[in-house]
Amino acid sequence: MEGIKIESGMSREVDEIKSRIDIVDLVGEYVKLNPAGANHKGLCPFHNEKTSSFMVNQSKQIWRCFGCGEGGDLFSFFMKVEGIEFGEALKLLAKRTGVVLPDYQPSDIKKDSQNDIMLKILDLTARYWHKILLDSTQAKAAKDYLIDRKITEESIIDFKIGYSIDQWDNLINFLKKKNFSDRELFSAGLTVKRNGASGFYDRFRGRIMFPISDIHGRIVGFGGRTLNKEEQAKYINSPQSETYNKSAVLFGLNLAKNYIKKNNLCILVEGYMDVIPSHQAGIKNVASISGTALTQEQIVLIKRFTTNLALALDMDLAGQNAAERSADLALQNEMNVSVITLPYGKDPGECATNNPQDWKRAIEEAKPIMQYFLDRAISDNDLSLPENKKNVAKYYLAKIIGLPNKIDQEFWLKKLSDKISVSEKVLWESFPKGKIKQNNRVINTVNSNLIVKRENKKEKNYLILQRIFSILFIFPNFAQKLIDELPTDMFQGELDILYKKFIMYYTKNIDSFNSASDQGTTFDLFDSLNGLLDDQGPDYEFKVFLEESFLLSQNESSRLSDKEIREELANFINILKADYINSKITALKAQLEEAEQKSDRQKLESIYSELNEYIRRRALLN
Ligand code: CTP
Ligand code: MN
Repeated sequence: MEGIKIESGMSREVDEIKSRIDIVDLVGEYVKLNPAGANHKGLCPFHNEKTSSFMVNQSKQIWRCFGCGEGGDLFSFFMKVEGIEFGEALKLLAKRTGVVLPDYQPSDIKKDSQNDIMLKILDLTARYWHKILLDSTQAKAAKDYLIDRKITEESIIDFKIGYSIDQWDNLINFLKKKNFSDRELFSAGLTVKRNGASGFYDRFRGRIMFPISDIHGRIVGFGGRTLNKEEQAKYINSPQSETYNKSAVLFGLNLAKNYIKKNNLCILVEGYMDVIPSHQAGIKNVASISGTALTQEQIVLIKRFTTNLALALDMDLAGQNAAERSADLALQNEMNVSVITLPYGKDPGECATNNPQDWKRAIEEAKPIMQYFLDRAISDNDLSLPENKKNVAKYYLAKIIGLPNKIDQEFWLKKLSDKISVSEKVLWESFPKGKIKQNNRVINTVNSNLIVKRENKKEKNYLILQRIFSILFIFPNFAQKLIDELPTDMFQGELDILYKKFIMYYTKNIDSFNSASDQGTTFDLFDSLNGLLDDQGPDYEFKVFLEESFLLSQNESSRLSDKEIREELANFINILKADYINSKITALKAQLEEAEQKSDRQKLESIYSELNEYIRRRALLN
């Protein structure tokens, strides 16, 4: 599972890509990283956690999560986070870095190129429509319309807005000339089959075209707005296709993602014409759900950049509309959700265009959605009637029960109790027990298969030996003390193999260890050890152990003085020794019993003397 097998002849390209992208930058696109000593730390994208146990090290270009145990290099991170195979990762990263890959194997061509052709068609189409909007006289009405709505030329360019000419085959003709087939245009969602006749016609005609991109900025679909007030369909969108999965994209996210991370907040709006004006007003951490409810897949996308979500959506119709369902789902996914309320009768687009200050203020004044739900329920109901109190309680308790965190649950329960003057106890009791789903938390479904439970493996001695190695990586010259103090048969199982390997390595390279001075050295113990190990096979566990130890050594805790390091090392060694001695004593006591039963005098004596020796040594430890 771990360690990536590199296809024949690709290792040079892989190295080239690695040299061109810094792992901290790549990971930083998905995880909010903060410096921690020589490492960067953040919340692991592969399991749910509240404290950062995910670490990235720049000098070694490695990453590892101490929570779930996942780790590796730039490629393994990209593959896991995107849920793609090595070949796809190689292609995407090569494209990004401008590294040219040798030709693909014949078997890859079919599978990859189908998708590639779709993307190529969509990209060409977007450019074509964009050029028409900018240059063609036929786009005059469209241009006027955009000017009327105060959409700037800069936005037209940034969002690659276009115009589809009002003819049945304008796009078809253009793409046919580029040698694409009817079938390909249809698969790309750009044409519609004629009813009862053969052939196809353009799906988008006489519309302002908004390209919809995936997170990498690749165009995967379109939304087309009519210019005609009489027209029934204000928008026509790309149909679900191989490239366009509408529940897995958010309009504008590709342009917003860095701002979302920077502001640690994602603002969600309804539509295209909200995202674009907001950008123009300088608020760029905005994406649109395009008039539907937020999906689990979209939440996973957003959570790569932030766990804070502010909704600028139409929140009317309590309990019924898409916005409220979106909020519920985000809450269940442990996001902090707030609501942006605009001056009456305005939508974010309008507000951002005409009163940008109002838009900014509204964002600053966003209130927690649980507060919003409660306030709204209370203002909608006359609480002097017990019937209404019951309704409010029922509605709001359902919200509380949806929260994955007990502390939040209690917090809002108290608020409810205060507001409607019903005790917390009664509130809980009055709720039908069968309906209470505690901890109904929604796991990040895309990546849940990547979660590996390692807790059991990380027993105490494993962790302590890691701390010891993390010290050795900075002060290799302490290795002698370690080996002098810890007996060779100190550990069991994996750790036993590991420790013995280390002793062998030390014996062979004793000079390097001894020449390493107290103040950090040119002898890179981590690189030297790591270089001896394979990514796969029996060495793998050792490799993980060393990487984790190295990452630990790069945290703040490594900034200890020499004296403190010595004390810490002595302390760790003592803990291990005590553990070792105690297990010996336990074993000897068992043997003692056996020998007593057999009245084996000679044996008894030797056990006693051994036992005394260990008891004496234990006493010396403290
Ligand atoms: N939408 C859609 N089909 C419709 C209406 C709306 O797909 N018939 C989606 C679009 O993504 C649209 C979003 O829902 O952007 C929000 O709808 P609306 O507020 O009506 O559109 P705006 O983008 O705000 O456009 P405008 O301001 O021009 O009405
Ligand atoms: Mn609107």
